[in-house]
Amino acid sequence: MSKYVILGGAKLSGEVEISGAKNSAVALIVAALLVKDVCVIENVPAVSDTYVLMDIINQLGGSAEFIDKGVLRIDARLVDKFEAPYEMVSKIRASSYLMGALLGRFGHARVAMPGGCDFGVRPIDLHLKGFMALGAQYSVEYGLVDIRAEKLTGAGIYMDKVSVGATINVMMAAVMAEGQTVIENAAKEPHIVDVANFLNSMGANIKGAGTDIIKIKGVEALHGGTYPVIPDQIEAGTFMVAAAATRGDVLIKNVIPKHLDSISAKLLEMGVEITEYDDSVRVKCDGPLKKANFTTMPYPGFPTDLQPQMLTLLLSTEGTSIVTENVWDNRFKYVEELRRMGANITVDGRCAVVEGGGKLTGSPVSSTDLRAGAALVIAGLMADGVTEVYNLKYIDRGYESFEQKLRSLGAQITRRKDGEKSKDAGIA
Ligand code: UD1
Repeated sequence: MSKYVILGGAKLSGEVEISGAKNSAVALIVAALLVKDVCVIENVPAVSDTYVLMDIINQLGGSAEFIDKGVLRIDARLVDKFEAPYEMVSKIRASSYLMGALLGRFGHARVAMPGGCDFGVRPIDLHLKGFMALGAQYSVEYGLVDIRAEKLTGAGIYMDKVSVGATINVMMAAVMAEGQTVIENAAKEPHIVDVANFLNSMGANIKGAGTDIIKIKGVEALHGGTYPVIPDQIEAGTFMVAAAATRGDVLIKNVIPKHLDSISAKLLEMGVEITEYDDSVRVKCDGPLKKANFTTMPYPGFPTDLQPQMLTLLLSTEGTSIVTENVWDNRFKYVEELRRMGANITVDGRCAVVEGGGKLTGSPVSSTDLRAGAALVIAGLMADGVTEVYNLKYIDRGYESFEQKLRSLGAQITRRKDGEKSKDAGIA
C-alpha cells in the first residue's frame, strides 16, 4: 500500500501546468464507442480512470492506446460487444456512460450498475427515464441493467433534477436517434460542452450545450477525427486552494479562467489575490484570510468536487464558516480524518460548521474518496509536522502526477510504499 508523506509548512510558489479534465476525458473516451472509425483524443490525463476505460474498450473488441504523451488513439471499428460486466465497470462511475454509448451504437446495452466514489446514494433513474423517452426498454437482471431499443426516436426530455451523468448519457444515445431530442433542465458543466463539441466534430448535430436546453438532431453515422480535452477545472481549483492554503504565490497554467469564476470569487471574498490571464490564473496570498460561507451547486455554482478542498482552506481563516453540500447527501466523510489533525468541524446533515484559526497537526489519515484525498493533502501542507495520507488509489483516479506537480512548487511531499524510508531531507 502506498501513502504520501508530507511535511507541512512550505509555501507553494512557481508555475504549474494543469492537465486535461478527467471528468471530460472519461466521457469522451466512452463517446468514441459511437464512432465506427478512429478518434484521436488529445490532452488526456494519465490517471487510473483513463486506464480503466481503455481496458474496457479493448475488452469490448476495440483498441485504445496512448500514441504520445496525452494523445489517446481509439479505434472502435471492431467493437462487437454490448455487455460490460461488474468486474469491468465497478471501479468507475463514468462506466455508466457505456449505457448511452452502447445503446446508441447497437440499440442494446448490458452494463453492471456503475461504481465510483461513495457520496451516498447515486441513482441512475434519470438516465433510464431518458433512454425510455427515446424508445428503449430496460430491466435489471443478474446484476446487469439491460437496455434495448428496436429503434431510438428523438423526444422531449425534462430532467427532474440537474444531472451531469444523465445529460451526457442521454445526449450520447440521442445522437444516433431518428429525429430531434430536446433535453430540458440539462446540466451545464464545462464537460457537457466538451462532450457536445467532441461529438459535433465527429459529425453529430448538437446545439445549446452549456445552456439548460440542449437540442440534438440524430444522424446516421459519425466519423473519426482529432479532438483535445478541455483543461481540468477541478484540478485547477485544487491548486488554487493549495496555493492559498500555504499562503503561496502560484501561476496556474493551461486553464479556462471562466470555468474558475465561482472559485475565484470565493477566494477573492476571503482576501486571496487572484489575477486572470488568457489561459492562466495567478493565486497569491500572504496575509490572514477571512471566513466565508459557501454552498455547492451545479455549474456555474460552486462545484461539489471542490467542497472538501475549500472546506479545508477555511480551517486557516479567522472565524466560523458554514459549508452547505447541495449536490450529494453524504459528502462529509473525510471530516472525521481532518478531526484527527485537530480540525474543529461539526457536521449536521448537509451542513458543516467550520471553526477557523485552530492549529492543524500532522497525523496519519486516509482518503475516503478522490477529492477528499486532495483535501487531506492540502491539510498536510498546512499542518505542523508530518502527515501520512493513505488510500492513494482514490487520488490516482483523477490527479495526474499530483505529487510531482506539488513538489515542483516546493511542497515537501513524497510517495512511499509502506515500510519504505524516505530519501528526502526534512521528511521523517
Ligand atoms: C458527476 C461527476 C462528479 C460530480 C458530479 C456533480 C463525472 C464522472 N462525475 O457525477 O465528480 O461530483 O457530477 O457535479 O463527471 N441524480 C439522481 N438521479 C440520477 C442521476 C443523478 O437523482 O439518475 C442525483 C444524484 O444523486 C446527485 C445529483 O443528481 O444528487 C447530481 O448527480 P450527477 O450530476 O448525475 O453526478 P454524476 O454525473 O454521477
